[in-house]
Amino acid sequence: MTQRVALVTGALGGLGTAIAQQLALAGHKVVAAYHPEFDKPDEWVKEQAEAGFKDFILVAGDVSDLESSAKMVAEAEAKAGPIDILVNNAGITRDRMFAKLEKDGWDAVIATNLTSLFNVTKQVSTKMAERGWGRIVNIASVNGVKGQAGQTNYSAAKAGVIGFSKALAAELATKGVTVNVIAPGYVATKMVTAIREDILKTIVDSVPMKRLAKPEEIGFAVAFLASELSGFTTGATLNINGGLYYQ
Ligand code: CAA
Repeated sequence: MTQRVALVTGALGGLGTAIAQQLALAGHKVVAAYHPEFDKPDEWVKEQAEAGFKDFILVAGDVSDLESSAKMVAEAEAKAGPIDILVNNAGITRDRMFAKLEKDGWDAVIATNLTSLFNVTKQVSTKMAERGWGRIVNIASVNGVKGQAGQTNYSAAKAGVIGFSKALAAELATKGVTVNVIAPGYVATKMVTAIREDILKTIVDSVPMKRLAKPEEIGFAVAFLASELSGFTTGATLNINGGLYYQ
Protein backbone atom coordinates (compact mmCIF):
# COMPACT_ATOMS: atom_id res chain seq x y z
CA MET A 1 0.00 0.00 0.00
CA THR A 2 0.96 3.65 -0.38
CA GLN A 3 1.93 5.16 2.95
CA ARG A 4 0.02 8.40 3.48
CA VAL A 5 0.59 11.23 5.91
CA ALA A 6 -2.33 11.71 8.31
CA LEU A 7 -2.96 14.65 10.62
CA VAL A 8 -5.35 14.02 13.52
CA THR A 9 -6.51 16.95 15.65
CA GLY A 10 -7.37 16.38 19.29
CA ALA A 11 -5.18 13.31 18.98
CA LEU A 12 -4.30 13.01 22.64
CA GLY A 13 -7.93 12.61 23.74
CA GLY A 14 -9.76 9.30 24.08
CA LEU A 15 -11.21 9.23 20.59
CA GLY A 16 -8.24 10.95 18.94
CA THR A 17 -5.84 8.40 20.37
CA ALA A 18 -7.87 5.51 18.96
CA ILE A 19 -8.07 7.24 15.57
CA ALA A 20 -4.30 7.85 15.53
CA GLN A 21 -3.68 4.21 16.46
CA GLN A 22 -6.00 2.79 13.80
CA LEU A 23 -4.41 4.99 11.12
CA ALA A 24 -0.96 3.84 12.25
CA LEU A 25 -2.12 0.20 12.14
CA ALA A 26 -3.33 0.86 8.56
CA GLY A 27 0.29 1.79 7.73
CA HIS A 28 0.06 5.58 7.67
CA LYS A 29 2.52 8.10 9.06
CA VAL A 30 0.50 9.85 11.76
CA VAL A 31 0.92 13.39 13.04
CA ALA A 32 -0.85 13.82 16.37
CA ALA A 33 -1.97 17.41 16.95
CA TYR A 34 -2.77 18.58 20.47
CA HIS A 35 -3.69 21.73 22.35
CA PRO A 36 -0.62 22.95 24.26
CA GLU A 37 -2.70 24.06 27.27
CA PHE A 38 -5.01 21.05 27.54
CA ASP A 39 -2.80 18.05 26.91
CA LYS A 40 0.26 16.42 28.44
CA PRO A 41 2.29 15.13 25.50
CA ASP A 42 5.16 13.45 27.37
CA GLU A 43 2.90 11.11 29.31
CA TRP A 44 0.92 10.30 26.16
CA VAL A 45 4.02 9.52 24.08
CA LYS A 46 5.22 7.16 26.81
CA GLU A 47 1.86 5.37 26.98
CA GLN A 48 1.74 5.02 23.21
CA ALA A 49 5.26 3.61 23.05
CA GLU A 50 4.33 1.08 25.75
CA ALA A 51 1.32 0.10 23.63
CA GLY A 52 3.61 -0.43 20.61
CA PHE A 53 3.00 2.90 18.83
CA LYS A 54 6.46 4.44 18.67
CA ASP A 55 6.27 6.56 15.51
CA PHE A 56 3.75 9.28 16.21
CA ILE A 57 4.92 12.79 15.31
CA LEU A 58 3.54 15.51 17.57
CA VAL A 59 2.56 19.09 16.80
CA ALA A 60 0.84 21.64 19.03
CA GLY A 61 -1.73 24.27 18.13
CA ASP A 62 -5.11 25.77 18.90
CA VAL A 63 -7.59 24.69 16.22
CA SER A 64 -10.03 27.44 17.26
CA ASP A 65 -7.48 30.02 16.05
CA LEU A 66 -6.63 30.45 12.36
CA GLU A 67 -3.07 31.64 12.81
CA SER A 68 -2.22 28.92 15.31
CA SER A 69 -3.76 26.29 13.00
CA ALA A 70 -1.67 27.55 10.06
CA LYS A 71 1.53 27.32 12.13
CA MET A 72 0.57 23.86 13.40
CA VAL A 73 -0.06 22.46 9.92
CA ALA A 74 3.13 24.04 8.56
CA GLU A 75 5.06 22.34 11.38
CA ALA A 76 3.33 19.03 10.62
CA GLU A 77 4.27 19.28 6.95
CA ALA A 78 7.86 20.21 7.79
CA LYS A 79 8.14 17.14 10.02
CA ALA A 80 6.13 14.59 8.01
CA GLY A 81 5.52 15.88 4.48
CA PRO A 82 2.32 17.01 2.73
CA ILE A 83 -0.87 16.05 4.54
CA ASP A 84 -2.89 13.45 2.60
CA ILE A 85 -5.41 12.59 5.31
CA LEU A 86 -6.95 15.13 7.68
CA VAL A 87 -9.09 14.06 10.61
CA ASN A 88 -10.85 17.00 12.25
CA ASN A 89 -11.51 15.38 15.60
CA ALA A 90 -10.77 18.06 18.22
CA GLY A 91 -13.87 18.97 20.17
CA ILE A 92 -15.16 20.16 23.52
CA THR A 93 -18.44 20.25 25.42
CA ARG A 94 -19.88 23.00 27.63
CA ASP A 95 -23.21 21.35 28.42
CA ARG A 96 -25.93 23.61 29.92
CA MET A 97 -29.66 23.89 29.40
CA PHE A 98 -30.18 26.77 26.93
CA ALA A 99 -31.84 28.92 29.61
CA LYS A 100 -28.56 28.85 31.53
CA LEU A 101 -26.12 28.85 28.60
CA GLU A 102 -23.92 31.95 28.52
CA LYS A 103 -22.34 33.45 25.41
CA ASP A 104 -18.85 32.21 26.30
CA GLY A 105 -20.09 28.60 26.41
CA TRP A 106 -21.69 29.08 23.00
CA ASP A 107 -18.63 30.77 21.47
CA ALA A 108 -16.10 28.26 22.82
CA VAL A 109 -17.98 25.25 21.43
CA ILE A 110 -18.66 26.83 18.03
CA ALA A 111 -15.01 27.94 17.74
CA THR A 112 -13.45 24.62 18.74
CA ASN A 113 -15.95 22.24 17.14
CA LEU A 114 -16.95 24.11 13.96
CA THR A 115 -14.73 27.11 13.13
CA SER A 116 -11.80 24.73 13.59
CA LEU A 117 -12.89 22.98 10.39
CA PHE A 118 -12.37 26.23 8.49
CA ASN A 119 -9.07 26.93 10.27
CA VAL A 120 -7.44 23.53 9.73
CA THR A 121 -9.03 22.32 6.49
CA LYS A 122 -8.12 25.65 4.85
CA GLN A 123 -4.44 24.73 5.29
CA VAL A 124 -4.66 21.43 3.39
CA SER A 125 -7.66 21.02 1.06
CA THR A 126 -6.43 23.09 -1.92
CA LYS A 127 -3.05 21.37 -1.84
CA MET A 128 -4.76 17.95 -1.71
CA ALA A 129 -6.82 18.92 -4.75
CA GLU A 130 -3.70 20.06 -6.61
CA ARG A 131 -2.03 16.72 -5.87
CA GLY A 132 -5.22 14.88 -6.89
CA TRP A 133 -5.62 12.83 -3.72
CA GLY A 134 -6.95 13.51 -0.26
CA ARG A 135 -9.17 12.20 2.51
CA ILE A 136 -10.89 14.53 4.96
CA VAL A 137 -12.79 12.90 7.80
CA ASN A 138 -14.75 15.11 10.15
CA ILE A 139 -15.99 13.90 13.50
CA ALA A 140 -19.55 15.05 14.22
CA SER A 141 -21.87 13.40 16.75
CA VAL A 142 -25.20 11.64 17.06
CA ASN A 143 -26.22 14.78 18.92
CA GLY A 144 -25.60 16.90 15.83
CA VAL A 145 -27.97 14.60 13.95
CA LYS A 146 -30.77 14.21 16.51
CA GLY A 147 -30.27 17.23 18.85
CA GLN A 148 -29.66 16.77 22.57
CA ALA A 149 -31.14 18.69 25.50
CA GLY A 150 -28.32 20.51 27.27
CA GLN A 151 -26.29 20.77 24.07
CA THR A 152 -27.70 23.54 21.86
CA ASN A 153 -24.13 24.74 21.30
CA TYR A 154 -22.66 21.30 20.63
CA SER A 155 -25.61 20.06 18.52
CA ALA A 156 -25.45 23.23 16.41
CA ALA A 157 -21.69 22.90 15.87
CA LYS A 158 -21.87 19.20 15.02
CA ALA A 159 -24.81 19.71 12.62
CA GLY A 160 -22.64 22.43 11.06
CA VAL A 161 -19.82 19.91 10.64
CA ILE A 162 -22.16 17.77 8.53
CA GLY A 163 -23.27 20.71 6.34
CA PHE A 164 -19.69 21.88 5.86
CA SER A 165 -18.62 18.39 4.83
CA LYS A 166 -21.40 17.91 2.28
CA ALA A 167 -20.62 21.28 0.67
CA LEU A 168 -16.86 20.69 0.54
CA ALA A 169 -17.41 17.13 -0.74
CA ALA A 170 -19.32 18.61 -3.69
CA GLU A 171 -16.54 21.13 -4.37
CA LEU A 172 -13.78 18.52 -4.34
CA ALA A 173 -15.60 15.56 -5.90
CA THR A 174 -13.72 15.71 -9.22
CA LYS A 175 -10.34 16.31 -7.56
CA GLY A 176 -9.67 12.94 -5.92
CA VAL A 177 -10.43 14.38 -2.49
CA THR A 178 -13.23 12.90 -0.41
CA VAL A 179 -14.90 14.58 2.54
CA ASN A 180 -16.90 12.43 4.93
CA VAL A 181 -18.35 12.53 8.43
CA ILE A 182 -18.51 10.07 11.25
CA ALA A 183 -21.29 10.75 13.73
CA PRO A 184 -20.37 8.72 16.80
CA GLY A 185 -22.82 7.96 19.55
CA TYR A 186 -21.68 7.86 23.16
CA VAL A 187 -18.10 6.57 23.30
CA ALA A 188 -16.22 5.42 26.40
CA THR A 189 -13.98 8.48 26.74
CA LYS A 190 -13.51 11.12 29.43
CA MET A 191 -15.94 13.46 27.64
CA VAL A 192 -18.74 10.96 28.20
CA THR A 193 -17.72 9.51 31.56
CA ALA A 194 -17.76 13.13 32.85
CA ILE A 195 -21.57 13.14 32.48
CA ARG A 196 -23.34 12.86 35.85
CA GLU A 197 -23.65 9.17 36.74
CA ASP A 198 -27.45 8.99 36.87
CA ILE A 199 -27.80 10.87 33.56
CA LEU A 200 -25.20 8.64 31.91
CA LYS A 201 -27.08 5.55 33.08
CA THR A 202 -30.28 6.82 31.45
CA ILE A 203 -28.33 7.50 28.25
CA VAL A 204 -26.77 4.03 28.15
CA ASP A 205 -30.19 2.46 28.86
CA SER A 206 -31.55 4.33 25.83
CA VAL A 207 -28.91 2.83 23.50
CA PRO A 208 -30.29 -0.34 21.88
CA MET A 209 -26.92 -2.06 22.38
CA LYS A 210 -26.95 -1.00 26.08
CA ARG A 211 -23.30 0.03 26.09
CA LEU A 212 -20.88 2.78 25.13
CA ALA A 213 -18.78 2.48 21.97
CA LYS A 214 -15.18 1.40 22.32
CA PRO A 215 -13.00 4.24 20.89
CA GLU A 216 -11.41 1.81 18.41
CA GLU A 217 -14.85 1.07 16.94
CA ILE A 218 -14.83 4.69 15.75
CA GLY A 219 -11.10 4.76 14.91
CA PHE A 220 -11.50 1.77 12.61
CA ALA A 221 -14.20 3.56 10.61
CA VAL A 222 -11.93 6.59 10.24
CA ALA A 223 -9.23 4.30 8.82
CA PHE A 224 -11.79 2.96 6.33
CA LEU A 225 -12.78 6.47 5.19
CA ALA A 226 -9.08 7.33 4.87
CA SER A 227 -8.30 4.29 2.76
CA GLU A 228 -7.65 3.96 -0.98
CA LEU A 229 -10.80 1.91 -1.56
CA SER A 230 -13.10 4.42 0.10
CA GLY A 231 -12.51 6.62 -2.97
CA PHE A 232 -16.15 6.53 -4.16
CA THR A 233 -17.50 7.52 -0.73
CA THR A 234 -17.93 11.25 -0.32
CA GLY A 235 -20.36 13.58 1.42
CA ALA A 236 -21.46 10.64 3.55
CA THR A 237 -22.29 10.61 7.24
CA LEU A 238 -21.59 7.31 8.93
CA ASN A 239 -23.70 6.87 12.08
CA ILE A 240 -21.91 4.67 14.62
CA ASN A 241 -24.09 4.78 17.67
CA GLY A 242 -25.17 1.31 18.78
CA GLY A 243 -28.58 1.86 17.20
CA LEU A 244 -29.34 5.04 19.20
CA TYR A 245 -30.53 7.07 16.21
CA TYR A 246 -30.79 6.70 12.44
CA GLN A 247 -31.72 9.35 9.93
N1 CAA B 1 -34.81 16.40 27.82
C1 CAA B 1 -35.59 17.42 28.24
N2 CAA B 1 -35.44 18.04 29.43
C2 CAA B 1 -34.47 17.60 30.21
C3 CAA B 1 -33.62 16.55 29.84
C4 CAA B 1 -33.83 15.94 28.60
N3 CAA B 1 -33.06 14.94 28.17
N4 CAA B 1 -32.75 16.35 30.84
C5 CAA B 1 -33.06 17.23 31.80
N5 CAA B 1 -34.10 17.99 31.43
C6 CAA B 1 -34.75 19.03 32.19
C7 CAA B 1 -35.12 18.55 33.58
O1 CAA B 1 -36.37 17.90 33.56
C8 CAA B 1 -35.14 19.83 34.37
O2 CAA B 1 -36.35 20.51 34.12
P1 CAA B 1 -37.12 21.32 35.30
O3 CAA B 1 -36.14 22.36 35.77
O4 CAA B 1 -38.33 21.88 34.63
O5 CAA B 1 -37.41 20.29 36.34
C9 CAA B 1 -34.05 20.65 33.72
O6 CAA B 1 -33.83 20.08 32.43
C10 CAA B 1 -32.77 20.58 34.51
O7 CAA B 1 -31.99 21.62 34.10
P2 CAA B 1 -30.71 22.04 34.92
O8 CAA B 1 -30.01 23.11 34.14
O9 CAA B 1 -31.05 22.32 36.37
O10 CAA B 1 -29.91 20.67 34.85
P3 CAA B 1 -28.52 20.32 35.38
O11 CAA B 1 -27.72 21.54 35.64
O12 CAA B 1 -28.68 19.35 36.48
O13 CAA B 1 -27.88 19.54 34.13
C11 CAA B 1 -26.94 19.21 31.99
C12 CAA B 1 -27.89 20.06 32.82
C13 CAA B 1 -25.49 19.44 32.43
C14 CAA B 1 -27.10 19.65 30.54
C15 CAA B 1 -27.30 17.72 32.18
O14 CAA B 1 -28.68 17.54 31.92
C16 CAA B 1 -26.51 16.80 31.29
O15 CAA B 1 -25.35 16.55 31.51
N6 CAA B 1 -27.16 16.22 30.28
C17 CAA B 1 -26.52 15.33 29.33
C18 CAA B 1 -26.17 16.07 28.09
C19 CAA B 1 -25.44 15.14 27.16
O16 CAA B 1 -25.98 14.13 26.70
N7 CAA B 1 -24.20 15.48 26.84
C20 CAA B 1 -23.40 14.65 26.00
C21 CAA B 1 -21.94 14.84 26.39
S1 CAA B 1 -20.89 13.68 25.60
C22 CAA B 1 -20.81 14.20 24.03
O17 CAA B 1 -21.25 15.24 23.68
C23 CAA B 1 -20.15 13.28 23.06
C24 CAA B 1 -21.06 12.97 21.96
O18 CAA B 1 -20.83 13.46 20.85
C25 CAA B 1 -22.19 12.03 22.15
